[in-house]
Parts: sequence; C-alpha cells; structure tokens
Amino acid sequence: MHTAIYPGSFDPVTRGHLDIIARAARATDKLIVAVLNNGAKNSLFSVEERVKMLKEELEEIPNIEVRSFNGLLVEFAKQCDAHIVVRGLRAITDFEYELQMAQTNRILDHSIDTFFLTADLEYAYLSSSTVKEVARFGGDISAFVTPAVAERVMEKYTGVSK
Ligand code: COA
Repeated sequence: MHTAIYPGSFDPVTRGHLDIIARAARATDKLIVAVLNNGAKNSLFSVEERVKMLKEELEEIPNIEVRSFNGLLVEFAKQCDAHIVVRGLRAITDFEYELQMAQTNRILDHSIDTFFLTADLEYAYLSSSTVKEVARFGGDISAFVTPAVAERVMEKYTGVSK
C-alpha cells in the first residue's frame, strides 16, 4: 500500500491545493494531508481551524486523512509509514525552494521521495497570501477558494459570521 503525504500550511486551503489533493489522491492508496503547526508563520487560522476546513472540503474523497504535525516532516512521515511526499509546482519560482526541501528531506531520510505535480494552469498564480490580501481589502475571493472557505476568511476580516 502506498501512503503519501501532502504537507503545507493551508492558511487557508485554496482551489489550487484542492486540485493537487484530488489528483494526488487518485494516484495513491492513501493520502495524508498534513497541516504544519508552525508557530513561526503568523497564520490567520489556527491549526485546528485549518484541519477542520480541510476535513469539510475533502469529506467526499475516501482515501484521504487530514492531520496536523509539528517538527520535521520526515519524522511525521515515519510515524505514518509514508515514503512519498507530494508537492505542487506552480511556476519556475517554486522550483528552487522545492528542490531544496526535497533534497533536505532525502538527506534526513533516504527512504523519502518527493513527487511533484504541476499546478493546474488555472491556479498557477494562486497563493494563500494572495487570498488574504484580496480579502483584507474586501475583494471577491470566490475564484480562489470554495464558498465555505471564503465565508470563514471574510469572517476573520469583518468579524461577522453568517
Ligand atoms: N495552489 C495554491 N497555492 C499553493 C499551491 C497550490 N497548488 N502550492 C503552494 N501554494 C502556496 C501556499 O498557499 C503558500 O502560500 P503563502 O506563502 O502565500 O502562504 C505557499 O505556496 C507555500 O506554502 P505551502 O505549500 O503551504 O508550504 P509551506 O512553505 O508553508 O510549508 C512544508 C512547506 C510544510 C512542506 C515545510 O515547511 C515543512 O516540511 N516543514 C516541516 C519542517 C521540516 O521538516 N523542515 C525540513 C524540510 S526543509
């Protein structure tokens, strides 16, 4: 059985992430979507909120599990008995950072391989920061995130829940 991990901050999860997740889930037996609990990044959503949003978005895909993790990705991968890390590549600018991470992880644990999926062209420009920037100024984020996520993001900025 091939278990893969798709790690990230998902602050918040975007349509671009969801596209990578759906494609990766089709290619593996089990996909663990791993939310980094990273105190260093000043996140809009708590790790619990990010996990909850992802679970809601992904409830219809049976071979997916959403979990949070601290510390090194390779240690978490070991705990999950996963040897594949999935990452999305949006543009050439992602490549250097991703190569560095993939190589570091492989030096830390030689049994780990990183598989890259190219982001759908439709979402190649997208990042969670872009979503937050547009939302902060009251712009329409419906092209970037699902309606449920958009509602949560707008709640954060306006303090108003529907
Ligand atoms: N669609 C939309 N956006 C995407 C995307 C896609 N397909 N792929 C990446 N992004 C965006 C994210 O939204 C995020 O945007 P932001 O910077 O505006 O928030 C950005 O690209 C990168 O974020 P993400 O993919 O979530 O990765 P990250 O850099 O926050 O975290 C980890 C990467 C979790 C894999 C890495 O930090 C990690 O493994 N940490 C654990 C510690 C460790 O093991 N370190 C050693 C390895 S170097």
